[in-house]
Amino acid sequence: PLCIKLHSLSPFPDARCQWNVWVPRDISGMTNSCVVIPCTFMYPSAVKPYRGIHGIWYYGQPYPQLFPPVVFKSRTDVVHESYKGRTKLLGDLYQRNCTLQISNVGAEHSGRYYFRADLGGANMYTFPDFAELKVLDQPNIDVPEEIVSDESLELTCYAPDNCPDMTPEIQWMYTDYLPDPEFSTDYLEESNTAVLSNTLTFTPRPMHNGQLLGCRVYYPNTTLVYERLISLDIKYAPRSVWVNVSSEVMEGSSVTLHCEVDSNPPSRISWMFGDEELLWETAANVTLSLEDVTPANEGVYTCVGDNGYGIMNTSLYLAVKYPPREPLVNDSMTVLEGTSLALHCITQASPAATLTWLKDGELVGTITADELSVLEIMEITPQGDGLYRCLAENEHGRASSSLNITVEYAPVLLEESKCTVVREGVQCVCIATGNPEPTIEFFLPALNITINETDGRYNFYTHTDGHTSTGMIKLRPKGDRLDNGGPAVNVHCSISNMYGRESILLELQQEKKYLMAVIVGTIGGVAVIAFIIAAVRYVGQNNKKENGSSRQDVVLDNPALYYSAVKKDKQNLRKKVGEEGDYQPVVSMAGLERRELNYAALEFIGARPREGTLGRGDDGGNYTEIKSK
Ligand SMILES: *[C@@H]1O[C@H](CO)[C@@H](O)[C@H](O)[C@H]1NC(C)=O
Ligand SMILES: *[C@@H]1O[C@H](CO)[C@@H](O)[C@H](O)[C@H]1NC(C)=O
Ligand SMILES: *[C@@H]1O[C@H](CO)[C@@H](O)[C@H](O)[C@H]1NC(C)=O
Ligand SMILES: *[C@@H]1O[C@H](CO)[C@@H](O)[C@H](O)[C@H]1NC(C)=O
Ligand SMILES: *[C@@H]1O[C@H](CO)[C@@H](O)[C@H](O)[C@H]1NC(C)=O
Ligand SMILES: *[C@@H]1O[C@H](CO)[C@@H](O)[C@H](O)[C@H]1NC(C)=O
Ligand SMILES: *[C@@H]1O[C@H](CO)[C@@H](O)[C@H](O)[C@H]1NC(C)=O
Ligand SMILES: *[C@@H]1O[C@H](CO)[C@@H](O)[C@H](O)[C@H]1NC(C)=O
Ligand SMILES: *[C@@H]1O[C@H](CO)[C@@H](O)[C@H](O)[C@H]1NC(C)=O
Repeated sequence: PLCIKLHSLSPFPDARCQWNVWVPRDISGMTNSCVVIPCTFMYPSAVKPYRGIHGIWYYGQPYPQLFPPVVFKSRTDVVHESYKGRTKLLGDLYQRNCTLQISNVGAEHSGRYYFRADLGGANMYTFPDFAELKVLDQPNIDVPEEIVSDESLELTCYAPDNCPDMTPEIQWMYTDYLPDPEFSTDYLEESNTAVLSNTLTFTPRPMHNGQLLGCRVYYPNTTLVYERLISLDIKYAPRSVWVNVSSEVMEGSSVTLHCEVDSNPPSRISWMFGDEELLWETAANVTLSLEDVTPANEGVYTCVGDNGYGIMNTSLYLAVKYPPREPLVNDSMTVLEGTSLALHCITQASPAATLTWLKDGELVGTITADELSVLEIMEITPQGDGLYRCLAENEHGRASSSLNITVEYAPVLLEESKCTVVREGVQCVCIATGNPEPTIEFFLPALNITINETDGRYNFYTHTDGHTSTGMIKLRPKGDRLDNGGPAVNVHCSISNMYGRESILLELQQEKKYLMAVIVGTIGGVAVIAFIIAAVRYVGQNNKKENGSSRQDVVLDNPALYYSAVKKDKQNLRKKVGEEGDYQPVVSMAGLERRELNYAALEFIGARPREGTLGRGDDGGNYTEIKSK
């Protein structure tokens, strides 16, 4: 039969008896090599070829009336310029074989090729089916859309093999650095076209991202070489998150924290402070800037990189340094002697401050390096009274807070308390400390009189300086007469405050101080007071003047009484001694205890001293001879 079935899958049952052509839809060839387009055709059995069978290959268009370039023509050798000497019909048209070879193809030859059968007369037919030629100057590489690190990867390089004159070979390039690359070649024939391929198999690592790979196609024994290079885009989870090392910054300064994430594609980088996301950005690195840092900024900062292929984080610790804050201490307080107390001092600092307790500038207690320092004071004494300061220090600065502790205590008589013989008589001074300041009263049992501040009848000088009170009275004989001997007059001094009261018998001082007292005594009341004030330990301003000139000294009817001195009543005198013995025991009184003094005769020789002059010791021989029994 004339109609030969060439294509078993031909959709038309009568295809073998119609005008029909079989060419590959797509065919490719490398530049400067050759391409053979396989072709067979059919014509209706009714058609009788007239004067032979001819054929024409057109480029681009099937219709001769559009004058497409002639690729090949069997009747003549007139072809388009660009095909001159390049085309050859390999098939035998009588065998309905229209196979065409194009040699030395170039990019300009890419396009559609149509075959036209010419059986003579009107029996000319251009088949609408065409072969599309692609002329390649590079091999094709099949690259998966996504290459993921650590997953096996296949890359296939293709070379058309449609030129019977030459056989291509494929080589992979730049594979030296690949771990265990494997190569396999394959040969695929389809629709009478052939493709040679070579598949490279390996497992890429993040380090291979961006590396070049190449495929080279060449024809042995020719100079034809074709290469294609590709850059590997290997996706990988963050494999390192670099952040600054942990560091210390001063409060108030600014700090930049840098985070760099190695991943492909770039990660969403976020800076976390605890659970709080401070900042995020999709980039290779992100910088977190903190201005004017405070201690609240201290803590763990974590940089998290997440690019969809994995998550990674790295943390650092930012420490904020600052000088000690003003310490918190107890409020100032007033306590009773003997109380035990604990003073607290609390501060914040970085690094931790050393806490020191100072009392009136002197170091007390231990030094601690902590937030809290407790100063324990056991059974506080009057010496515990003062200003307590807690000092906090670190290398960045210092701060302190203080409190006053006022210690209250029952009155204590001081050793200076005594009676002395002065020109006008006897002067008794009573000095006591206590807090609140003691009230001083004198009591003369012989006369049954009490002399105190509010009693306006007598000259009673008082002076208060801090916690020390001084009281003074003068005993003067009636008239100018001075007699010898006689029974003693007892002078009691009573000291009291809210915590206690004591009554002590004062003694009459004699011997050296006695002389001084006599000298001073001759000068007058104001001078005496000045002297007394200077003599006592707690010197201060007179805060109480003589209470008016209308007052009088105690006048004794019996001068003999006046010269009596005083015996100390040891039982009555409770010694008040501080822990460090600051309060001197009343030694002088103890020393005089041995005898009862029945005093004394004073004899004045010479003139009276100038009134209103302060006594300065023995500036004159005006007086005096003191005789004592
Ligand atoms: C057509 O001719 C070519 C070249 O001679 C040959 O390789 C091919 O096998 C032929 N095709 C058929 C179907 O005979
Ligand atoms: C290349 O040429 C050599 C000799 O010139 C020959 O032995 C060899 O077979 C040729 N190779 C191919 C692939 O044609
Ligand atoms: C963190 O590192 C960056 C870059 O190295 C630097 O500029 C910055 O000062 C560093 N920050 C700290 C707090 O060290
Ligand atoms: C941070 O990333 C940018 C691009 O996102 C780059 O230009 C810059 O050099 C990087 N900085 C550092 C310190 O790596
Ligand atoms: C950081 O990574 C660890 C595990 O590597 C995880 O337990 C932790 O929650 C991560 N931290 C943040 C802030 O994502
Ligand atoms: C000082 O303050 C602390 C803390 O408030 C307290 O516990 C302590 O009792 C206080 N000390 C005194 C003596 O009040
Ligand atoms: C402590 O007492 C002094 C003198 O009375 C006073 O100047 C100071 O302000 C007081 N300090 C405190 C903390 O109360
Ligand atoms: C002392 O005087 C008071 C009145 O001022 C009187 O009641 C008392 O009895 C007197 N005592 C003596 C011992 O005289
Ligand atoms: C002084 O003494 C009188 C009686 O002698 C008494 O009433 C008065 O309260 C006393 N004053 C003081 C301050 O003790």
